[in-house]
Amino acid sequence: MCGIFAYLNYNVNRERRYILQVLFNGLRRLEYRGYDSAGISIDNDFSFSRDPSTSQSSFSPSLSPPPLVFRQEGNIESLVRSVYQDVAATELNLEESFSIHAGIAHTRWATHGEPAPRNSHPQTSGPGNDFLVVHNGVITNYEVLKETLVRHGFTFESETDTEVIPKLAKFVFDKANEEGDRTVTFSQVVLEVMRHLEGAYALIFKSRHYPNELIACKRGSPLLLGVKELNEDVCGGSAFHDAKFLSKNGNPKELFLSSDANALIEHTKKVLVIEDGEVVHLKEGCVSILKFDNDKGRNGANLSRPASVQRALSILEMEVEQINKGKYEHYMQKEIHEQPESLTTTMRGRLIRGGSCKAKAVLLGGLKDHLKTIRRSRRIVFIGCGTSYNAALAARPVLEELSGVPVTMEIASDLLDRQGPIYREDTAVFVSQSGETADTLRALEYALENGALCVGITNTVGSVIARNTHCGIHINAGCEIGVASTKAYTSQIAVMAMLALAIGGDTISNQERREAIIDGLFDLPNKIREVLKLDQEMKDLAKLLIAEQSLLVFGRGYNFATALEGALKVKEVALMHSEGILAGEMKHGPLALVDENLPIVVIATRDACFSKQQSVIQQLHARKGRLIVMCSKGDAASVCSGGACRVIEVPQVEDCLQPVVNIVPLQLLAYHLTVLRGYNVDQPRNLAKSVTTQ
Ligand code: F6R
Repeated sequence: MCGIFAYLNYNVNRERRYILQVLFNGLRRLEYRGYDSAGISIDNDFSFSRDPSTSQSSFSPSLSPPPLVFRQEGNIESLVRSVYQDVAATELNLEESFSIHAGIAHTRWATHGEPAPRNSHPQTSGPGNDFLVVHNGVITNYEVLKETLVRHGFTFESETDTEVIPKLAKFVFDKANEEGDRTVTFSQVVLEVMRHLEGAYALIFKSRHYPNELIACKRGSPLLLGVKELNEDVCGGSAFHDAKFLSKNGNPKELFLSSDANALIEHTKKVLVIEDGEVVHLKEGCVSILKFDNDKGRNGANLSRPASVQRALSILEMEVEQINKGKYEHYMQKEIHEQPESLTTTMRGRLIRGGSCKAKAVLLGGLKDHLKTIRRSRRIVFIGCGTSYNAALAARPVLEELSGVPVTMEIASDLLDRQGPIYREDTAVFVSQSGETADTLRALEYALENGALCVGITNTVGSVIARNTHCGIHINAGCEIGVASTKAYTSQIAVMAMLALAIGGDTISNQERREAIIDGLFDLPNKIREVLKLDQEMKDLAKLLIAEQSLLVFGRGYNFATALEGALKVKEVALMHSEGILAGEMKHGPLALVDENLPIVVIATRDACFSKQQSVIQQLHARKGRLIVMCSKGDAASVCSGGACRVIEVPQVEDCLQPVVNIVPLQLLAYHLTVLRGYNVDQPRNLAKSVTTQ
């Protein structure tokens, strides 16, 4: 649940000021992953910068000065301020130039230990900063490792699980040297450390014993290497697709490590997606990769011998504009407004609408070999957390209707808590924007163990969930940076509607319905453009609700999910209590809350549940409820006939796609409420985008 970043410049002079800027910008791009504290490590003085032609290959007898470490509570800008204050106080020379330099950086979402400088990363091996580590993930056996290290004389200063890692590295390094092995390499040290670690991690190591080198390794958490050749003509440009070694021709280059592509794209599109069990060594402008044959031992630790591997670099399919706010003030605002485009991308190439004689069809390449098995499943189980769970809930009715297979819902953590039944005959569908949510990932492991067919629906190509499922569909909504998920939600529903069409197959009896849904999908971006025009109306509503303590949202059928998701958006960003309620349950408890003060949104757009929602509205009117009714265009007068209410009119679409339209005004309401209440929209209190701890 953190972001890690590193920058290594090789054979190109970079001033300390520039290096700091690259590290800070990297962190700014990753800040959505955690923002309660941050830290960096850079080199101390010019003697670190060695001529690559004379650099030693391993252990350095003349130890370099300790790297500098800066750690600060608060967001990245607090770190930036404190670093520049420290730099001024210590008269550190910002113009000092390094022909080779390796810097590391971290932005944190606290799991073990409160947000405080001592718990921020880089975590160190102790005085002297012999080994420094930035970490994203959780080390589950850290207590055992800590006890052992304490017995060997190490003292700990933080409450983090991470601190055992640099200390273990120092222990391994010192032991090798005591035993007379003065040629132990940085990667050997890290490989030995990895053997002892259990849990999930992406790690970057820096060491004063191996100046200007970096090691990256991972298991479970994401990590990418970015490669930027600074003089491509000289070295043959794209010839560097062999990732085992970038040539040793002294060609100037910059290497980056990052938790995700956002922090790489402004530097380079050439990346290597580091795989579980791999140890990537950056040294003298070269990249070498070692991998454990058998990634996971009985207790999660690595047991096998590492082997050298070669893999190709890939080219990122994204543009810098995608990660900028453009004309918008906040990422959440931008992502709400780009839903017509994100939905178009989600459906591109997947829907076929031929001429009068051609059938309308859905093509989901990632599933084509598994559709038969899915159709024959005993049941389909949707598994996810938060917004992703809500998206699956919105799609459940259409999947049940078209597939004829029973569909059940599981919140990932609850499935694990109950160890609920999952059978070989089940198809388990894992829905996750990030593809790295710990609960969903553990549920996936559980379903795999139980022999179910596992399908992934994620927004992150190469994510653990995408890689570890048998088959899947990428939602292709584009990079989502706002912590509150918006465009991923609508794209997830669109993908699951297509999934329902694909599973359902093309029978005469359902042909009309299928065609209506396909037409509806094609038209969805236009309908979203239309509903986005409610922006000002939602802002006005937000002004009315600004001081409220609570907001209820009533929905049912296709729009029970809309009620849950609308309430989730309001509570997570506007920090206002909000509850999504199944309208059918109103009389079984929630009605007691209703009075003339509590604002209630009732979703009553046209579908099979419309008349029931009309009766809910009447009952709320009878209790003088303060109502805001969301209805289909043209229905305002009829839905409010029994009393005063405010109306949000939305375009009507095919019933199973209505949740995609209906959520948009609620996203806008949550956004405006947050801004008006003076909270940070893109960094809601205590939250982070990817929840990689259980
Ligand atoms: C809320 C939100 C979260 C996520 C949840 C699952 O706006 O974003 O509820 O939906 O943490 O995350 P993913 O989809 O990445 O598995």
